[in-house]
Amino acid sequence: MARKLLLEHAQVEGINTYEVYRKNGGYRSVEKALKTMSPDEVVEEVKKSGLRGRGGAGFPTGMKWSFLAKPEGVPRYLVCNADESEPGTFKDRYLMEKIPHLLIEGMITSSYALGANTSYIYIRGEYSWILFILERAIAEAYKAGWLGKNILGSGYDLDLHVNIGGGAYICGEETALIESLEGKRGNPRIKPPFPAVKGLWQSPTVVNNVETIAAVVPIVNDGGDEYAKIGIGKSTGTKLISASGNINKPGVYEIEMNITVEEFIYSDQWCGGIKNGKKLKACVPGGSSVPILPHFLVCKTAAGEDRMMTYESLSDGGFATGSMLGSGGFIVYDETQCIVRNTWNFARFYAHESCGQCSPCREGTGWMEKVLHRMENGAGKMSDIDLLNDVAKKIEGNTICPLGDAAAWPVSAAIRHFREEFEWHVNEPRACLERNYGLIGEKVAATL
Ligand SMILES: Cc1cc2nc3c(=O)[nH]c(=O)nc-3n(C[C@H](O)[C@H](O)[C@H](O)COP(=O)(O)O)c2cc1C
Repeated sequence: MARKLLLEHAQVEGINTYEVYRKNGGYRSVEKALKTMSPDEVVEEVKKSGLRGRGGAGFPTGMKWSFLAKPEGVPRYLVCNADESEPGTFKDRYLMEKIPHLLIEGMITSSYALGANTSYIYIRGEYSWILFILERAIAEAYKAGWLGKNILGSGYDLDLHVNIGGGAYICGEETALIESLEGKRGNPRIKPPFPAVKGLWQSPTVVNNVETIAAVVPIVNDGGDEYAKIGIGKSTGTKLISASGNINKPGVYEIEMNITVEEFIYSDQWCGGIKNGKKLKACVPGGSSVPILPHFLVCKTAAGEDRMMTYESLSDGGFATGSMLGSGGFIVYDETQCIVRNTWNFARFYAHESCGQCSPCREGTGWMEKVLHRMENGAGKMSDIDLLNDVAKKIEGNTICPLGDAAAWPVSAAIRHFREEFEWHVNEPRACLERNYGLIGEKVAATL
């Protein structure tokens, strides 16, 4: 049985309450850190653990923490990114809903390490019911003396607030999140300066994902070295995966980062295989922003090695034959799924969510959406395929924040691996409409 560090007690009845959480070993990391460790020692354990940010980019957390500027007399902030809006990703929701105190415990221990006396959880607007879960848990933590002044008599003070976003994907980008937290429109900031130097209210700030902050709890409890023993290479510890699509057992799974993709898809312990005995067609392993993999590159790398559920293995081959672990939004497609339709659906999302600040993203995402929509609806031209590639290339790397890249990559990857399917949409519009919609409406048929 796979080891669970975050979700071990997720099924314990009442674990969302302080009493049950505490009885199951909750808040030990705060006790250990505040009573026996200096803030720098906590940072050291996180560095030793090899923990990488679980928000998508996989940046080493200990290194990020050590970049935090510490000017005299200036407050520092820890902000938890609970905006989770990436299509295919729903792990943070599960964690906060089931075990809210795990996040709160991680926030206290991490805030202590960073020297923050005021911290925030910025939560996605549509997760409004979790706001109440978190607020209740925070009130319990204050009452039990884990938050507020002079926690455990250590002299350390911490106030923790939850802030609800308006439901914009862009507010998950850390500088847009900071702007939004300050009460402004959530537009990403130009970097540098990075938040570690000038973040919230122009003060040094660390922004970390929910899962990253929760992982600090087992790291402090058991030590960074123990955490680093799990996994392979630079993919240490456990990872929450949101599994969805044409699989028998969709859900949120905590995996040790040492299993193969094949095992994850086909084992009954995890996804339980492809639904209705169908064949695997493709997989998006890390949320809508990462390149799609065709079936022959899902379980094996281009070199014929087993593809592992790790940062390194999923990106093996670069974008030519690999993808990314990203935020762990693992979407599986069976042989009946239409790649053009899926690509259009993602493009529609990014066009809607572009903040509009940078022209290549504002114009390009809308353009890609329109072209894909006409291809999907039987009115595409062969030149549209190269046009899409061209627009994607002009967005990539040319925007203030990576939303532009996130919109471009899925389009270019879909064309790279499924070009014949795009051509088929142009050559056989009737057949593709029949396949995707069952029958052709008169209005559509008239345009063919
Ligand atoms: C458009 C966009 C949306 C993002 N959404 C999220 C999000 O919902 N949650 C998250 O943790 N990180 C998100 N990120 C990444 C954050 O900018 C940031 O890298 C992350 O919160 C850092 O946390 P980590 O180091 O713990 O991974 C997003 C980035 C972009 C460009």
